[in-house]
Amino acid sequence: MSALLKVSDLRVEYRGQPIVDGVDLALERGEAMGLAGESGCGKTTTALALMKLLPPALKQSGAVTLRPPGVEEPINVGRRTEAGMRRVRWRHVSLVFQGAMNSLDPVQRVDAQIAEAIRLHESAGAKEVRARIDELLTTVGLTPALGRRYAHQLSGGQRQRMMIALALACRPSLVIADEPTTALDVTIQAQVLQLLESLRERLGLALILISHDLGVLAETCDRIAIMYAGRIVETGPVSSVFEAPQHPYTKRLLDSLPVIGGPRALGDPIPGGPPDPGEMPEGCRFRPRCPYAADRCLSDPALRETSAGHASACHFAPWSEWPAAAGAGSLEAG
Ligand SMILES: Nc1ncnc2c1ncn2[C@@H]1O[C@H](COP(=O)(O)OP(=O)(O)OP(=O)(O)O)[C@@H](O)[C@H]1O
Ligand SMILES: [Mg+2]
Repeated sequence: MSALLKVSDLRVEYRGQPIVDGVDLALERGEAMGLAGESGCGKTTTALALMKLLPPALKQSGAVTLRPPGVEEPINVGRRTEAGMRRVRWRHVSLVFQGAMNSLDPVQRVDAQIAEAIRLHESAGAKEVRARIDELLTTVGLTPALGRRYAHQLSGGQRQRMMIALALACRPSLVIADEPTTALDVTIQAQVLQLLESLRERLGLALILISHDLGVLAETCDRIAIMYAGRIVETGPVSSVFEAPQHPYTKRLLDSLPVIGGPRALGDPIPGGPPDPGEMPEGCRFRPRCPYAADRCLSDPALRETSAGHASACHFAPWSEWPAAAGAGSLEAG
């Protein structure tokens, strides 16, 4: 079976500066992939590029191909015109925008907003639309009566469920959810994640879940991709990446997660910050912050497989153990 989504060499530039820089991804039907990385690494930009929803100042290139079940010809997103994309968005792939909870129309009842999304893509009668809305709300764990409310009459968790219902309105085979739980408190966060998981099972939905929180992705995803400065630096099955990370950046992200049952404090944050798109360091982009950096990190590391399905863009991978970090160049000195 060929992949539902295949992305090759996706690039996004802003005034000649790389924001997303050669991203490759593949996703099977019904699969859940997590996309993680610190703020500004290009997660949202990647998601918007997959939908061709970038603002005009951002130029995208590379191949994005969708093969939704029941559609004969693969959909070449990279080459589609805006009119062509309108027939793809929401119908085959939809996006729950970052901060979407607050983007519901305040002066329109939420059921009317869902109805609008359905009618935009299908010629459905009023009765059919009504039935679909009720079904959608039930699917996301809301009572249909809540559809008659306005956004301000809903709680944060209810609004986020509405946004998910909206994303599902035209029965897409892929949903991209950009930080769907970040603004929610922990209990509601868990409920929304459970919802996404059950939707995957019940609807056979593929999911790209974007979060800076690795813990969230570990619970929900089959595979994970770690982004740094516009590139994927590590990708693999969740268990393999969590148990044996193969990139110092991933290792540091994992070390900064709170340990269940361990001391309550957060681990050390990674010192420094990611580079600006205009000032990308030569070679490995994590080099200036990497405790294991050495001379050879001045050349660009390619993403290489270190075990089945697990790849790292670190010259020193595979890492079988993590030596105590010394200064730059320590690995090659000895
Ligand atoms: N419209 C734009 N114009 C210029 N630069 C942009 C634009 N949108 C994003 N960028 C830049 O692209 C980079 C990646 O931004 P992006 O929003 O994709 O990051 P992110 O990983 O989603 O971060 P966060 O975790 O904060 O949501 C940042 O350096 C940002 O400043
Ligand atoms: Mg973002």
